[in-house]
Amino acid sequence: MTSPTELIPAPRAVEERPGGQEFRLTEHTTVWAAPGTGTTERWLRAVLGPALGLPLRPGPPDARDALRLRLDDALAPEEYRLSVTAAGADLTGGSASGVFWAAQTLRQLLGPDAFRRAPLRPGAHHAIAPQVIEDRPRFRWRGLMLDVARHFLSKDGVLRYLDLMAAHKLNVFHFHLTDDQGWRIEIKRYPKLTEIGSWRARTKFGHRASPLWEDKPHGGYYTQDDIREIVAYAAERHITVVPEIDVPGHSQAAIAAYPELGNTDVVDTAALAVWDTWGVCPNVLAPTENTLRFYEGVFEEVLELFPSEFIHVGGDECPKDQWRRSPAAQARIAELGLADENELQAWFIGHFDAWLSARGRRLIGWDEILEGGLASGAAVSSWRGYAGGVAAARAGHDVVMCPEQQVYLDHRQDADPGEPVPIGYVRTLEDVYRFEPVPPELTGPEARHVLGTQANVWTEVMEDQQRVDYQAFPRLAAFAEVAWSPLPPPPQRDFAGFERRMATHYRRLDALGVAYRPPTGPRPWQRRPGVLGRPIDGPPPNK
Ligand code: ACM
Repeated sequence: MTSPTELIPAPRAVEERPGGQEFRLTEHTTVWAAPGTGTTERWLRAVLGPALGLPLRPGPPDARDALRLRLDDALAPEEYRLSVTAAGADLTGGSASGVFWAAQTLRQLLGPDAFRRAPLRPGAHHAIAPQVIEDRPRFRWRGLMLDVARHFLSKDGVLRYLDLMAAHKLNVFHFHLTDDQGWRIEIKRYPKLTEIGSWRARTKFGHRASPLWEDKPHGGYYTQDDIREIVAYAAERHITVVPEIDVPGHSQAAIAAYPELGNTDVVDTAALAVWDTWGVCPNVLAPTENTLRFYEGVFEEVLELFPSEFIHVGGDECPKDQWRRSPAAQARIAELGLADENELQAWFIGHFDAWLSARGRRLIGWDEILEGGLASGAAVSSWRGYAGGVAAARAGHDVVMCPEQQVYLDHRQDADPGEPVPIGYVRTLEDVYRFEPVPPELTGPEARHVLGTQANVWTEVMEDQQRVDYQAFPRLAAFAEVAWSPLPPPPQRDFAGFERRMATHYRRLDALGVAYRPPTGPRPWQRRPGVLGRPIDGPPPNK
């Protein structure tokens, strides 16, 4: 049994009932689910039941020892009330999501072993102290971006990350599916995107200044059925998947597959392969009608697979050098009456902004997309600090705050050169815990454009799931609290208190099999001192 004072993310309000009788979960415990709460009923039976070794059979609402799931219109959509007495637990949500978040809290109250897949001691008793928890998220966008382009993560690895997100009450999975180094989603009308674009012959090992190469092919992709499964699995956990298809930069894998997408008048694009190193790639899309039609075809299939309101089009780090040198691009600029290459980029993004709006979706892109005007429904991922987000909010655009200085989890978590991923700013657990997504210069109405926040995990220097775990955890737990819990009054966040709660949370992560960075520093097998050459300091980390 875990105390409510050990919950992560911390809930808004807890009323403990000391001296009251505890709720014991036994093989007789049943689940009653009101209409509209089926996702949580299924999750309790599929995940919590096996962890506790209990069947959690369906039962009537008035059974003793029951878990009762219901909706209450008086609560905000993601809000929940979890009330525990000797007679059972009532999980009440403003919507199905609220009920699901109540179940995540319930699991934490049952202790770290509730995070396993089978009971350690069959027949052991499981109890929760009497209490009432009232809780709701601070932000509606509590995101994690995972880059599966630089290093492919298996479908099972992605599903596992969705489970880890749910356990931390995160609700937006930004799926970075395409980049210079790999194209990871099957597009039926363009098979070469995955036949050619999903693998590379070799890979720079470490950061871009490293002298090392991994001389073996790397690759992988998700079939459309894999994507459907991922989207459905996420939806069962009240997580929205926002796909990212990058244009007009970060596109070399697509150009390697279909050379006509590149600037053929200045580069021999037929000779390009999927990129095998890191940094900002000079090979970008040609601003032709053919390119627009091609990507409309891609996005048509993407829209069929992803029901999300937002579709991410990238838009970051598009070097203009090829467009400057390309007679075809220059002719395009003249024909469209544009001033320069920057306006050409804005035209490119603007095309897909209008195209997505016409299909009832909203475009989101990295903050570079602000440079040139956007349709009113478009939103911005503010990654180059806060400034892009502030400008976007002031211009009436919605914003997701994900400044690289604070919440890029590929950046190292300690100055020790033995950190296995020695890039970027040093950002400790405490730094992430103290991150504030809403900059003080925004007025109330402007601040309401901050939909929320997102931690970004780029994987250039993370070759496998263990490295991703190491970079993401424990910092993602601190981030989850930033995204969910209310901002406490001054002196604001109590890091010492968070660290005390983390003692229990590390045991949950152990039970989940997460290869996190321990508070004492990397374990011997997590170190790789000196392997990657000198660390790269400060901004930008790996570009
Ligand atoms: C980015 O980190 N280039 C969005």
